[in-house]
Amino acid sequence: MDNTNNDYFVVKAKDNGVHVIGLTRGQDTRFHHTEKLDKGEVLIAQFTDHTSAVKIRGKAVIMTKYGIVDTEE
Ligand code: TRP
Repeated sequence: MDNTNNDYFVVKAKDNGVHVIGLTRGQDTRFHHTEKLDKGEVLIAQFTDHTSAVKIRGKAVIMTKYGIVDTEE
C-alpha cells in the first residue's frame, strides 16, 4: 500500500530546542527520528511509508494544507 502523498508540512521553530518527532507507521507505533530545530529554523517534510504521525514539542508554527497551527506554551 502506498501511504505517501505529495503533501508537505512545514514546521517553523519559534524557540530554540523545538523537537519534531517522527512516529512509525503500522502496528508498532514508536519514535524513529527526532529532529531538533533552533529558533527560526524551518523543516519541510512529508508523511512517508515509515512515518505516519509527527509530534512537535516546543514553540512552533506548523503549516499544512489544513491550515496553520501554533503550539502554545
Ligand atoms: N526517514 C524518514 C522517512 O522517510 C524521514 C522523515 C520523513 C521524517 N518525514 C519525517 C522524520 C517526519 C521525522 C518526521 O519517513
